[in-house]
Amino acid sequence: NFDGIEAIWLFGYGSLIYKVDFPFLEQRPAAIRGWARRFWQGSHDHRGTPEAPGRVVTLIEQPDAVCKGVAYRVSPNVFEYLDVREKNGYLRFSTTMTFDDGSHAEGLVYIATEDNEAFLGEAPEADIARQIALATGPSGPNSEYLLRLADSLRQLGDDCSHTFAIEACLRAEERLPR
Ligand code: BEZ
Repeated sequence: NFDGIEAIWLFGYGSLIYKVDFPFLEQRPAAIRGWARRFWQGSHDHRGTPEAPGRVVTLIEQPDAVCKGVAYRVSPNVFEYLDVREKNGYLRFSTTMTFDDGSHAEGLVYIATEDNEAFLGEAPEADIARQIALATGPSGPNSEYLLRLADSLRQLGDDCSHTFAIEACLRAEERLPR
């Protein structure tokens, strides 16, 4: 319940980094500690279909992990919009974000946990890449999601080895005949 609150920080670590189709008051690179990005959430409504679900990122708890992303200061009604955009099983929690200058703020983060129906969980990174290569949905090819995220993470200086390993497999995969 956001009654009386004028602005809230939202931390984005996935498509929110590069697909900014909502209004914001301020945008800053930020990082959160204790969470790692993983392509463990299934997508049958955005980047895949029920027959061939894609894979998109969620966060898993991992002590000492640092996940970089972008923080947006938004009006509370932005969450009403994003709750619909991200309808595929995400929930929100509050965590401490650290900005580039070392200052902190509380921000809301969307994650998909294993409790939601679309959750797929762990798989070898080569298998994840193959699944991504074969999936496309109403929001476009799953490979585009992966490649745009990987580019954004390079710009942010996030050395997310999981994402980059899957990206390397996908690029190798695309050079092979099917
Ligand atoms: C994110 O970029 O933080 C995000 C986007 C969609 C669903 C969950 C998280």
